[in-house]
Amino acid sequence: MCKIPLMASIFRGLYLIEDKRLEKELFGLKFKNPVGLAAGFDKDAKLFNELNNFGFGFIEIGTLTPKPQDGNPKKRLFRLKEDSAIINRMGFNNGGVHEAVERLRKNNDVLIGGNIGKNKVTPNEDAVDDYKICFNALFDHVDYFVVNVSSPNTPNLRALQDKEPLTKLLQVLKDENIKRSKGKPILLKIAPDLTDEQLLDIIEIVSVTKIDGVIATNTTISREGLRSDNKNEMGGLSGKPLAVRSTEVIRFLSQKSNKAFAIVGVGGIHSKEDALEKLDAGADLVQLYTGFIYEGPKLIKDINKALLSR
Ligand SMILES: Cc1cc2nc3c(=O)[nH]c(=O)nc-3n(C[C@H](O)[C@H](O)[C@H](O)COP(=O)(O)O)c2cc1C
Repeated sequence: MCKIPLMASIFRGLYLIEDKRLEKELFGLKFKNPVGLAAGFDKDAKLFNELNNFGFGFIEIGTLTPKPQDGNPKKRLFRLKEDSAIINRMGFNNGGVHEAVERLRKNNDVLIGGNIGKNKVTPNEDAVDDYKICFNALFDHVDYFVVNVSSPNTPNLRALQDKEPLTKLLQVLKDENIKRSKGKPILLKIAPDLTDEQLLDIIEIVSVTKIDGVIATNTTISREGLRSDNKNEMGGLSGKPLAVRSTEVIRFLSQKSNKAFAIVGVGGIHSKEDALEKLDAGADLVQLYTGFIYEGPKLIKDINKALLSR
């Protein structure tokens, strides 16, 4: 009868660190610690309460789309063990935003980010409506929003990162946000494959639309320096080979914007040193996915312990 609470308390005993010095206030939210779970792991908001027992400071669910969709045919996820990396072409497989909302009603006080996208069948001209549906459905159930226009696995999605469509999309969501008595923070998740010029555009767009920050970065389409057999699979590459580029993007955004907005650093964090590097480059929070797979939940504790001993 008490199987789950017992397991939960074992995991909490092993992995949780609670310390006031790890707390972080950012865009009006209080994070228990700055180490989060990146989007894509709990796409359908099925596991966030359990995952929270591993000591994350926040958990990002999604990417969710308005309608359920299967995603790409399997096999669509490949480990690149020699490179401590993953290539995935999941393609936003999810049960749709409305089902996720029902599960989010059972949140035991986990700080949740809602990562939103568009259905594959929705043409880019109508993409704004998909994001708006997800935004409004999730509004009462998440603490912050992430606008995902950077997955390489939905055809043409990344074209929404261009200045004009992106400004329009973010403006529409800001307009929805101000209809509420208290708005929610909105972040933009970007690809690591943007040029410096495109990153400067991002800084301008954040400033014009006054969104709260950027998540840098999503997976890359680059295949530089890989050794594993699976290196030529199609999809987005995550894990260790992404670390340097994603930190570069964080540093560029932080320096060129003069720290004008919040930055969540993600990409290739497999050790406490990797996390500290991203924080030193200008990230306010960090997230993990592939490092969590390869290193296990101890990585979260290691990073938080390193922060405490600083
Ligand atoms: C299997 C898999 C699925 C992912 N799905 C999503 C997703 O649905 N939405 C999203 O914004 N990012 C998604 N990501 C990207 C991660 O959130 C993260 O940005 C990226 O993997 C880089 O971090 P990492 O090197 O720690 O994995 C996914 C990553 C992986 C490996």
